Amino acid sequence: MTRTQVAIIGAGPSGLLLGQLLHKAGIDNIIVERQTGEYVLGRIRAGILEQITTDLLREVGVGTRLDAEGTVHHSIELVFAGTRHAIDVHGLTNGQVVTAYGQTEMTRDLMAARSGASLPTVYEAADVEVLDYDGDKPRVRYRKDGQTHEIACDFIAGCDGFHGVCRASVPKGSITEFEKVYPFGWLGVLADVPPVSPHAIVYANSERGFALCSMRSPTRSRYYVQCPLDDKVEDWSDQRFWDELRRRLDPEMASRVITGPTIEKSIAPLRSFVAEPMRFGRMFLAGDAAHIVPPTGAKGLNLAASDVKYLSGAFIEYYRDKTSAGIDSYSERCLRRVWKAERFSWWLTTLMHRFPDTEGFGQKVQEAELDYLVNSESLSRSLAENYVGLPLNFGER
Ligand code: APR
Ligand code: PHB
Repeated sequence: MTRTQVAIIGAGPSGLLLGQLLHKAGIDNIIVERQTGEYVLGRIRAGILEQITTDLLREVGVGTRLDAEGTVHHSIELVFAGTRHAIDVHGLTNGQVVTAYGQTEMTRDLMAARSGASLPTVYEAADVEVLDYDGDKPRVRYRKDGQTHEIACDFIAGCDGFHGVCRASVPKGSITEFEKVYPFGWLGVLADVPPVSPHAIVYANSERGFALCSMRSPTRSRYYVQCPLDDKVEDWSDQRFWDELRRRLDPEMASRVITGPTIEKSIAPLRSFVAEPMRFGRMFLAGDAAHIVPPTGAKGLNLAASDVKYLSGAFIEYYRDKTSAGIDSYSERCLRRVWKAERFSWWLTTLMHRFPDTEGFGQKVQEAELDYLVNSESLSRSLAENYVGLPLNFGER
């Protein structure tokens, strides 16, 4: 039986970042991942990092490529009623920014750091089970190469995403789940063309539905349009996508969109989801294992980072200071931040998207709120401070 201090389930951003934070603090950890590393890297996901996230990446020594290739954004732009308005995020938050850097690249950097430090990661682990986490001798069991393996540990970190085994292993009576499913999806494309707005993420509310203009690099664009939940990727030719995107932007920006063949095209549903609590004895949930946000506010990856910042701090306090204070307060601290990010993501999604009942009146009310927002310094500041990420100790006394 292998032994470690913290067994981490999942080698996505949460698990990998937690592994590096623990390693830096001298805490042994093993990651057990269901897929191959290539499969994990093949997932096209988020791309906007809060300063808390970029600070954590630098803290664990994986900020070099981020600093060289990431694109810092000082503002965002809102398009509605055919006009575009800039929100000076940097100015409204006393100098905070967000950085465009693909989750794939962040994951690649964390994987390279982990293997560079020769830290143990079990890929292609099948039938993972989390055992005895409500006692003081938790174990992880998995199968690989026809053998059954067990890991004895002090703690289990459930970083295994929305469809993982950790949350699913908790007895129904010990967990409360809150969920809201939105009546539309996002059709996203990647294309190796220069982004129409290299210095700001653009969010568009139009009568035809939501659109978003983002980027992965100065030569790679990331675009989304809201689409019906029952749409299929094959319903959307490249030409149909580019035409629809331009219809949802203001005329000046639409005229500047550089089109080209898409290299990735997918449709994702939108949901808000929170599981409470996030701690079960000696098992802790982090990232998508515990919560999901609609991508509108770009919070998913950043909440995963703040969860593991809190969790790594709790483990460090346990081993170094011999106190369980951080462990005991982990769930409450995370959930205070999670719910504020859930609120912001829900609010921005509700403001920017066309809902089945968003008829004439609903559209006019959305446009009125947007017109109020772009002309109100206080509401713009509220948007900006949530967009860059609230401080980790926000509201704590
Ligand atoms: N056993 C082992 N590993 C598992 C299991 C299991 N039973 N189930 C899932 N996993 C792995 C998945 O293969 C995945 O690599 O756990 C990992 C979870 O990674 P993510 O789903 O990316 O979740 P997280 O690390 O919390 O990152 C959140 O990823 O999904 C995006 O939008 C989300 O940007 C956010 C970020
Ligand atoms: C992205 O670049 O994928 C992205 C940017 C901003 C969002 C959501 C997604 O709000």
